[in-house]
Amino acid sequence: MTERLDVAVIGAGTMGSGIAQTFATFGHEVHLVDASEAALERARAGIQKSLQRFVKKEKMTEDEAAAVLARVLPETDLAQAVAAVDLAVEAVFENPQVKEEVFRALDEHAPEHAILASNTSSISITALGAVTRRPESVIGMHFMNPVPLMKLVEIVRGEKTSDEVVARTKAIAEGLDKVVGVAQDYAGFVSNRVLMPLINEAAFCLYEGVATPEDIDTIMKYGMNHPMGPLALADLIGIDVVVDILDYLHEQFGDPKFRCAPNLRRMRAAGKLGRKTGEGFYRYD
Ligand code: CAA
Repeated sequence: MTERLDVAVIGAGTMGSGIAQTFATFGHEVHLVDASEAALERARAGIQKSLQRFVKKEKMTEDEAAAVLARVLPETDLAQAVAAVDLAVEAVFENPQVKEEVFRALDEHAPEHAILASNTSSISITALGAVTRRPESVIGMHFMNPVPLMKLVEIVRGEKTSDEVVARTKAIAEGLDKVVGVAQDYAGFVSNRVLMPLINEAAFCLYEGVATPEDIDTIMKYGMNHPMGPLALADLIGIDVVVDILDYLHEQFGDPKFRCAPNLRRMRAAGKLGRKTGEGFYRYD
């Protein structure tokens, strides 16, 4: 294991709690920060549930799982939580104003040496760096869902991110047993720029009656050896997130290849957001 870090994860949603769990699994102390006590409680329950899956598979003992959970410290006061951190990972929801506010606060309260990372899936790292007095320390650390299982961390270097911060972040991610890919700061980086058109085209196939959801997913899952089909993956990511990223890519590149399929937009309007609402392309109990 690499040196033990003092880490803060800002935002206790699905991604934030998965990121916190992963750092804690590798021995780091994690301040998990959210303004909402209820979100922190949900995160703790989610982490416990995920850890139990590892215990059941005998990849972790009950004692180890308890120790991981104990290393995640739920906190509501950001200023206090980041006062001594080596790394802060912002994982609040995908809204530029909210993220900028978090970065201003990190700039004000985190120590000079700290790396200020964002788990954003599409927002510009350069723009987030620009609201701080230390854009050289600001970097993208894009984890994939479900974080404890997915191997990739997409590191995104902003216009002013220093080589030293890129190297340190890469070493930290590798210390979590992740594989790193580095991308420059353009909309969607690599992951979502390539993934979203795949999901969108699958949605168009359904919209145009080319095949049923089951057949679309079967063809892509078994034909391309993907772990799951693109429509099932859209349900996992969240239809609202998919629509937001497609709209952002469309706006940034002005290229019609990113136009969002009408059925995705309609599902979003109906609140059929995938697993999190119990219904998307499929139904979930
Ligand atoms: N914690 C611990 N274990 C978990 C878990 C979690 N959160 N989620 C699933 N598992 C385990 C299960 O216990 C199960 O283990 P066994 O097979 O040993 O019993 C295994 O994973 C499979 O789980 P399920 O049977 O529930 O199958 P699933 O289809 O629901 O989920 C999956 C499995 C890991 C999600 C797999 O299908 C997969 O890898 N899918 C692709 C995921 C992907 O592409 N993610 C990237 C999304 S894009 C993104 O995140 C970035 C963005 O910006 C939008």
